[in-house]
Amino acid sequence: MKIAVVGTGYVGLVLGACLSENGNTVACVDKDASKVATLTAGRMTIYEPGLEEIVRRNVAEERLRFTTDLQASVKGSDIVFIAVGTPQGEDGSADLRHVLDVARLIGRSINRYTVIVDKSTVPVGTAARVKATIAAETGQPFSVVSNPEFLKQGAAVEDFMKPDRVVVGVEPGDERAERMMRELYAPFTRTGAPIMITDTASAELCKYAANSILATRISFMNEIANMCELVGANVDDVRRAIGADRRIGMSFLFPGVGYGGSCFPKDVKAMLKSAEDRGYDFKILGAVEAVNNAQKLRLVDKIVSHFGGEQNVAGRTLAIWGLAFKPRTDDMREAPAIAIIERLLAMGAKVRAYDPEANETARCLFDNRITLCDKSYDALAGADALVLVTEWNTFREPDFEKMRTLLRSPVVFDGRNLYSPEQMRALGFTYFSIGR
Ligand SMILES: NC(=O)c1ccc[n+]([C@@H]2O[C@H](COP(=O)([O-])OP(=O)(O)OC[C@H]3O[C@@H](n4cnc5c(N)ncnc54)[C@H](O)[C@@H]3O)[C@@H](O)[C@H]2O)c1
Repeated sequence: MKIAVVGTGYVGLVLGACLSENGNTVACVDKDASKVATLTAGRMTIYEPGLEEIVRRNVAEERLRFTTDLQASVKGSDIVFIAVGTPQGEDGSADLRHVLDVARLIGRSINRYTVIVDKSTVPVGTAARVKATIAAETGQPFSVVSNPEFLKQGAAVEDFMKPDRVVVGVEPGDERAERMMRELYAPFTRTGAPIMITDTASAELCKYAANSILATRISFMNEIANMCELVGANVDDVRRAIGADRRIGMSFLFPGVGYGGSCFPKDVKAMLKSAEDRGYDFKILGAVEAVNNAQKLRLVDKIVSHFGGEQNVAGRTLAIWGLAFKPRTDDMREAPAIAIIERLLAMGAKVRAYDPEANETARCLFDNRITLCDKSYDALAGADALVLVTEWNTFREPDFEKMRTLLRSPVVFDGRNLYSPEQMRALGFTYFSIGR
């Protein structure tokens, strides 16, 4: 098929690349001319494992291209995806400005029957608004479907290529759009993943429900970890014991420094706002958010308490390992590292940080307020403690002897429970982790 994907960010670029990999001809559109120029020149704009190779191959085979020209790309397309950002608005709701701007332009461009797909995460009712916006601009026939994306950054290509399920919300009786979406996704669901056809409201809501339950599990486990600290239990043992129950399962049970990223924080807020707008108090989600905000600073509380008060943190140097909101991405949107570093800087501490992929992002965020190191061990040189924030694989088995010699004092605050407390103590470290 001929496809246009509008918005070439973390979702749009993966979507466009993977659809071209399966033989479709795809134009990835973005209003950011520098992004388009970078991609056209053969360089990547984001770090995502496996993506570069797919992009290269499909550009070379002329199935994938990048452009700022939305209208020309949309004309003659069978399917047009809207994959632009839906950032948090001032009142917590999803800001639909970009989605509706794009819908307007699509309306002005289509010149035959086209399926327009909401890929962005959008609140219930958006498909209807997109439809009305397009209808106001054109007399051409078209369908609007809602197709939420469940990929995880860091494993986006694999998730897209082998989804657990594909959800497509269509208007009742819109068999033509349903048929085209089934055909498009057939190569990705051959191994048995179901295509679930729903109404548009259910498709829109299920994305928020999925992110909300994952965020809830994280906050829940963080509270269990905090309880473990109070009663002297070990959260690793508790986690394994409850996760072994098949009704519960092992995933998303790791305590840590709270969730971040471009999705959970904004989607939880948008769900809360959407409930509030309908006069409903979604109590659990309110608590999930409050717990997360507190958890981001729990490691800092441990640092303050170890050094004997905020006044004693002033002037100290702290090494930070990991800046991205999670491993295998360069994304720092709402990363716990930001809250942690800002608190440390506000107390007068100095920060030396290292991340395998997010150093450049951090440079833009912090200017010269922190020192960014090119190598992990460089961050430790002369630091009063190491604060481990993101669980990159490279931090899992470090050279502890080297760490001890580089640090001014052998103190580690581990926000991801990467090391064994017994081993760290045996190696002579003062070691703090979460819930153990
Ligand atoms: N990042 C994820 O892991 C993820 C996963 C699932 C769903 N989502 C959802 O997908 C959507 C996109 O997320 P993202 O992380 O890819 O965002 P992003 O910020 O990385 O990319 C959005 C892109 O859209 C472009 N854009 C904005 N307005 C435009 C316009 N009028 N015309 C053309 N391009 C325009 C921006 O320049 C940007 O490149 C959001 O709704 C998000 O909630 C994200």
